[in-house]
Amino acid sequence: MFKDKYVMGTCYYPEHWDRELWDSDIDRMLDCGISVIRIAEFAWNFFEPEEGVYTFDFFDDFLRLCEKKGMKVIMCTPTATPPAWLTGKYPEVLTSDIDGNKYKHGGRRHYNYNSETYRRFCSVITEKLALHYGDHKAVIGWQIDNEFNCELDEFYSEADTRAFRIFLKEKYKTIDELNRAWGTSFWNQTYNDFEEISVPARIPTAHNPHQMLDYHRFISGSVLSFCKLQSDILREHIRPGAFITTNGMFGYIDNHRMTGESLDVYTYDSYPSFAFGLKKESWVPKGLKDRHWSRNLTEVRSICPHFGIMEQQSGANGSVGGMEGPAPRPGQLTLWAMQSVAHGADYISFFRWRTACFGAEMYWHGILDHDNRDNRKISEVKSFHEKLQKINEICGSDFEAELAYLTDYDNEWDTADDIWHKDLNDVSSESIFLFTQKNHIPYDYVFFNDKTGAEDLLRYKYVIYPHPVLMDEKRTEVLYEYVRRGGILIVGAMSGAKDLRGHCVMKPGPGLLSKLTGSDVKESTFVHENDEGMTASDGKRVFDMPLYNEILTVKEGEENALKAAFYDSGYYKGEAALIENSVEKGKVYHLGGVFSEENLKTLSELIGMKSLTEDIAEVPEDIEAVLRSKGEKKYLFLLNYMFEPEFAVLKCEAEDLFTGERVSGRVEMKPFEVRVFKL
Ligand code: GAL
Repeated sequence: MFKDKYVMGTCYYPEHWDRELWDSDIDRMLDCGISVIRIAEFAWNFFEPEEGVYTFDFFDDFLRLCEKKGMKVIMCTPTATPPAWLTGKYPEVLTSDIDGNKYKHGGRRHYNYNSETYRRFCSVITEKLALHYGDHKAVIGWQIDNEFNCELDEFYSEADTRAFRIFLKEKYKTIDELNRAWGTSFWNQTYNDFEEISVPARIPTAHNPHQMLDYHRFISGSVLSFCKLQSDILREHIRPGAFITTNGMFGYIDNHRMTGESLDVYTYDSYPSFAFGLKKESWVPKGLKDRHWSRNLTEVRSICPHFGIMEQQSGANGSVGGMEGPAPRPGQLTLWAMQSVAHGADYISFFRWRTACFGAEMYWHGILDHDNRDNRKISEVKSFHEKLQKINEICGSDFEAELAYLTDYDNEWDTADDIWHKDLNDVSSESIFLFTQKNHIPYDYVFFNDKTGAEDLLRYKYVIYPHPVLMDEKRTEVLYEYVRRGGILIVGAMSGAKDLRGHCVMKPGPGLLSKLTGSDVKESTFVHENDEGMTASDGKRVFDMPLYNEILTVKEGEENALKAAFYDSGYYKGEAALIENSVEKGKVYHLGGVFSEENLKTLSELIGMKSLTEDIAEVPEDIEAVLRSKGEKKYLFLLNYMFEPEFAVLKCEAEDLFTGERVSGRVEMKPFEVRVFKL
């Protein structure tokens, strides 16, 4: 986002406080190193208190003060909370629940992306703001809306049905083609006209899975077009150099495409204490809970390698209506903010400056509490800023990984309506995360799309594509090219079982992928309860084979494929569980199951995949190790998420960037401590 230096910010709501506080608030922020604030994302009424009446006085006053004091500002379009005058007079802008009942005014995100009326009002307010503040010296960037698809990610209003029909007409051209794609001869669902189709509604049994897949693609399209509507207007009027972003990462949005089409930079909102659950009984710390945010940040990095954190947790989660969360313990605020930095954030903006004294989130704590006194959190923010200054040379560096975790939106969204696919995917994605974290084998997510080529994959020695159930020729060709040129590809069960419409293919598994895998799936089954503890072996190693098993063989005529492991028990004892195939310079491994921490360990031994930091340091499982590089220089982040001290051993001499000391050998990591070494 800022690329050459780390910048610290906060979220501020001038409309929540007496004006008398503005001055001292900005001074106190600057004093602790906060140089950017985000404002106005829920403040539509302050700009348009009545339809067509625009007033900028309030924010003009505030921005004048910011300019005078040298505080920079990210301005927001306020479209996440439509005013009451708008929803009252034009109720069609409200979104609806699955039964078509309109939500009432109140809360937030109660609007509808596809309402023509809402889009018109949003265009006008965006344009007014862009014209008024587009050149303002204090305004360095713009946030569109706030957290698309947070709270709701399925929409059922009449405007959605109208837009869904247009989406389908554009996609299928004729109703016959749609009937084929949706397999409507099943359960007598044939349509004679696009006008007969609506967004999914409450029905007595399962929805048509092909319709659901298209519906979820449609939702993403709706968000993208709503975002682009605003970004095009901003782009036309704001100063060149001012950036456009949006924040959050929620369901059914192709964030990669949205960023490419509409944004300069992507920002994420990071609240790791959600990992401890919101119920008191689950507040017990266990390893890797908040470390799961590293998985989210890995996904963010795939969208935008140098991203921003628009909201970084600084206090307890708390919403009056149903969220109770623990406050970050001393050191945890810094740990979580450094977790973001280690994964590629160069802008860290804490949510929020001060806890609100009114409203639904008055227990959602910010840096300052209601009493407005300096506290341990503000001291930590200050010292975090001092730390950032000491590691500024790392800004703009690259995250190091030899492993890519390949996925794609078609497959991700298919899991919403296909429980088989979901079960397999959930187990594998969690296991891959846990195994790679504990063994310090960091990965990058790569989201397969039309632009992905073999070169994108060849940056990685290993690619794991756990369950590419939906597959097409084009993707198969890219994978083939990756392997042919030396890549090592690993796939699991149900691979290639469907086409992109979500129909099961009438081909032996793994469908199109058998060209690469050299395998043939004779039969498959969820593991029977009597077969729990199912394993396979290759004579030397044991592969754990839980949940789902495919009985594999070598595809007829394949000369370079071999059976690499065999089931140890059950009615398919002795049959193959793993096929290894050589394709020119590369290799493909087809494991007939889901990935578990145990079988990933065995597979890693087989393919020689090792810890990235093995030659640099001995790092215990409880510490996350992140390696970043800039030219010849390498930097090692060690992050201790545990409530107890931990120890690592540096195998070479390195400079501790926080203390300036040269260290080697055993290094202590205090609870929640982060250490950064220049190697
Ligand atoms: C985010 C949101 C903020 C605030 C915060 C704490 O989801 O963008 O407006 O609600 O969480 O709940």
